[in-house]
Amino acid sequence: MPTDSNEHRYVTTPIFYVNDRPHVGHCYSTTLCDVYARFMRLAGHEVFFLTGTDEHAAKVVDAAAKRSLTPLEWADQNAAAFRDTFKSLGLTFDDFVRTTEDRHKSRVLAYLEALRQTADVYVGEYEGWYDAGQEEYLTEARAKECEFKSPINRQPLVRKRESNSFFRLSAYQKKLEQLLNGGTVDGQTFRVEPEARRNEVLGRLREGLNDVPISRSGANGWGIPFPGSADQTVYVWIDALFNYLSIIDTDERRKFWNSGPLHVIAKDILWFHAVIWPAFLLALRQCPGFEWVRLPKLVYSHSFWISEGQKMSKTLGNFVDLQAIQRYVTTYGNDAWRHYLVTQGPLGATDADFAAAKFHETYTTDLVNTVGNCTSRVTAMINKYFEGVVPPETSTRQQVDKSNESNVVLPGFEWPRLCEEAVNRASQAMENFDLYTAVEAAMGLVRRIDAFINATEPFKVAKDPARQEELGTILYQCLEALRIASLLLWPVLPEKMEQFWKAIKQDVNPRADRLSELTRWGGLVAGTKVEKVALYPRIELPKVEATV
Ligand code: MSP
Repeated sequence: MPTDSNEHRYVTTPIFYVNDRPHVGHCYSTTLCDVYARFMRLAGHEVFFLTGTDEHAAKVVDAAAKRSLTPLEWADQNAAAFRDTFKSLGLTFDDFVRTTEDRHKSRVLAYLEALRQTADVYVGEYEGWYDAGQEEYLTEARAKECEFKSPINRQPLVRKRESNSFFRLSAYQKKLEQLLNGGTVDGQTFRVEPEARRNEVLGRLREGLNDVPISRSGANGWGIPFPGSADQTVYVWIDALFNYLSIIDTDERRKFWNSGPLHVIAKDILWFHAVIWPAFLLALRQCPGFEWVRLPKLVYSHSFWISEGQKMSKTLGNFVDLQAIQRYVTTYGNDAWRHYLVTQGPLGATDADFAAAKFHETYTTDLVNTVGNCTSRVTAMINKYFEGVVPPETSTRQQVDKSNESNVVLPGFEWPRLCEEAVNRASQAMENFDLYTAVEAAMGLVRRIDAFINATEPFKVAKDPARQEELGTILYQCLEALRIASLLLWPVLPEKMEQFWKAIKQDVNPRADRLSELTRWGGLVAGTKVEKVALYPRIELPKVEATV
């Protein structure tokens, strides 16, 4: 199986601005990475999952001043809020970077020192349309297209003139086009997904590339001092992008970079990740000592959450903010929160609506009526008919499937094959960061178990003492298939799947065990004593509406 080799995996979220508190958008990207990281660890990979905060933005200085705090005091508070929120949501990041940390700043200086020795960095004058909120210059054509307003917050663009250090991005146009068209540059490939986003970038690339400033003045000392220019700081975006490299750039961790990073971001910051970042890395690779720096394997750019049908905004008051997140988690549980984000979120190229009614419906349909119902049905029947002791898989009322030698109670329900297919489909989908398909593979298996119960009617078989073995086989197959489905569901539903494992006496250690071994048919041992489980309580809507 492709995901089961002992490779390293490196997955990153954007690093978030500390001018404000985390909201659903930040938690979304980080949850997607968490699901991926958990799955890959379970598949046997050594994973490094990085998240953190981007602290040197000018808006941090403004937000701090409004509160009579220093920028660092304000950054400290918000960085802690991000870290604590992610921790409380059970997100298993391996490190949390803050760009104000020395370990990051010193590496950024090393990268810039190296780049300054090349022809790719020069000092020049710049005048252009500046988006202050994004701290980004727009090309003349793009500024016009956006009616001289920020494409993100619709504030007017500012005409700005600066003397800065520049990166010769224009020199990379052909190479970037080649890469984005699936070609190789310097023996390297680079993917941007989804397809629609990649095409957008290619379209913009064809309009031509301007060089980009990498230093700026007037930051009042907030930022990394730019090497060689006492009064300038490193442009915040360059500082921020380098986090992906700086934190992994140690003797013990470099192996993760070599495995090809997966950067998960949203469409708002795709240009930086799909164009500026790979160009920087290609430039750095040319510098002595940095030949090991390779391009990321994949930049996955998801879309945006909107809320109750409208763009989230402070003025509309429809932000799914920390308090709202807390209310959802308290009412429905952490698994339900993760499941909603992953299965109903904007993973592809279209935005998704965060709506209380849809949340409730998804919880009820998928978790209460499908996973919850099936697990409680099967464990209850084993308790009722076999006093909680897992029966052996022996009877073959209909036939034995000659191809895989397993017991087939009913044609169409060849369980070892069905389970193997689900595991392969989920693993393949995870490789492509197609989390939705991965979850669907597992949910499909659960629905199949329900169909099997309906078709074989064990409650009727139970009435005939001569059919005890057949009943045992049916229930063994149900529970064994459920056990395998639960392993595939665990990255999204960790709390309840662990509860289920406890009830069916499965001792799983996701950081040490291997998915391929755990999902082998027959892992469930007859004679095991299992308890009845009720994983997802039905929640009444009126009660929810009062709280969410
Ligand atoms: N600091 C930069 C990123 C630097 S990365 C080297 C930044 N920070 S941010 O705080 O504005 O976070 C932007 C990211 O937050 C998006 O790319 C996305 O991952 C997440 N989201 C913010 N709002 C979102 C939605 N409404 N919906 C989904 N994700 C969103 O940009």
